[in-house]
Amino acid sequence: MALRNILTAENPTLKRVCRPVTSFDDRLATLLDDMKETLAKANGVGLAAPQVGIVRRAVIVDVGDQMIELVNPKILESAGEQDGLEGCLSVPDHYGMVKRPNYVKVEAQDRHGDWHEYEGEGLIARCFCHELEHLDGHLFTEKAYHMLSDEEMDRLMEAQEEENA
Ligand code: NI
Repeated sequence: MALRNILTAENPTLKRVCRPVTSFDDRLATLLDDMKETLAKANGVGLAAPQVGIVRRAVIVDVGDQMIELVNPKILESAGEQDGLEGCLSVPDHYGMVKRPNYVKVEAQDRHGDWHEYEGEGLIARCFCHELEHLDGHLFTEKAYHMLSDEEMDRLMEAQEEENA
């Protein structure tokens, strides 16, 4: 396994619509393993293949007790609403308020091409939506109805430091 470089927002690769994965081969397995390692190192909750420069429909999501791989994922169902702060490893140090469904069910293939269904609420549902949008060339900054100012960020960081103290 190897760490991959995470592209940042100005990179045009992040605006491309990704192609479906059609070869369930060693190259895909290596990509997914590298993405898992890269996500863990970056302390993120989700990572999409275009963020490491691969224009293919593959995503890793940390669902708490494990990381799941979503190849060619599709949203089957969504319900409810949540409103909260969102960030992205490709948009470091910037956070914005984004409304998302509170419940999302997706279907996706694994590295072997087998289909599975996954469902999640709260942060996991938010993450499914966020990561799947990367596959169509979109960043959360397009969806945010308010991006936090530097001052608001400072206050948030201070509050978090107090929480962790
Ligand atoms: Ni992201």
